[in-house]
Amino acid sequence: MTRGSGKRPSPAAARTSKSDLLEAGTRDHYQDAALYDFEYSDRVEDIRHYRALAGEVGDAIDVLELGAGTGRISVPLARDGHRVTALDACDPMLQRLRDTLARITVAGAVTPQLGDMRALTLPDAAYDLVIAPFNALMHLYTWTELLACFREACRVLRPGGTFAFDVQMPDLEWLRWDPEVRHAVTRFVHPATREKLVYSTNHRYDAATQICHIRIYYDEAPPSGRRFAPPPVPRRLVHLAHRQIFPEELRMLVATAGLELGSLTADFRGRPLADAEDSQVAVCVKPR
Ligand SMILES: C[S@@+](CC[C@H](N)C(=O)[O-])C[C@H]1O[C@@H](n2cnc3c(N)ncnc32)[C@H](O)[C@@H]1O
Repeated sequence: MTRGSGKRPSPAAARTSKSDLLEAGTRDHYQDAALYDFEYSDRVEDIRHYRALAGEVGDAIDVLELGAGTGRISVPLARDGHRVTALDACDPMLQRLRDTLARITVAGAVTPQLGDMRALTLPDAAYDLVIAPFNALMHLYTWTELLACFREACRVLRPGGTFAFDVQMPDLEWLRWDPEVRHAVTRFVHPATREKLVYSTNHRYDAATQICHIRIYYDEAPPSGRRFAPPPVPRRLVHLAHRQIFPEELRMLVATAGLELGSLTADFRGRPLADAEDSQVAVCVKPR
């Protein structure tokens, strides 16, 4: 509805469009799995972190990755000899993982599994380590969904097992940026189609739901030397919805699910949360 039209959407219509937006916000970004791997190929610190953590938990352990995607982290864990269940709700991401597994040999094993991290069809006390890397938990849009997931993680862990994850630290200044201005304008060549494209993004934050609605635009690149001007209709628009999780909320989720928070730091190097505002990197333990 445009402003001043005098009509209000019916509550049912408003609900539908909101849930459509959240569905797109979980799905869109993960349809082009080759592009996903390309966009995050320089993200390596988290891989090191989860490998080191698994090594501390033990040799050849049972790991469950929630929101495992293309296996960016599951595959290195399996190379280290661990047995990994790689669970994800998005089949194109898991298909890319299956394709990778068909090409390589790993010392351990990876079992891709299509599933929902809010309701796992996995047995109790089957894993030594459950991980949810790289903002996967930010796709759970209410505290009830988050708590369901934390409880599931606790249920499938063996007593003494570890639940580890990382999510963004809410950046209140960034969240309030002008939703119309395009940021991060970057030329690139699509890794599969070889099209010359321009990436740009903006976002709108809904403080009532704590959800940040990010729009990622993929437009045709202008000839080199010519400045990019966003076209009126984007070539491809990807919606990415991220619920912001505040530190005290996170501590409450951990405790309410029956876990103990071992550490909560601002990055993978262990900087204290008070000194930096990058991420929230958590390591929790299920009591024995
Ligand atoms: C940012 S990606 C992270 C992928 C991978 N962990 C990595 O580090 O590259 C988030 C993943 O969570 C998955 N996801 C979102 N909601 C989910 C849910 N309810 N259950 C399972 N997976 C989900 C998405 O499909 C996506 O692959």
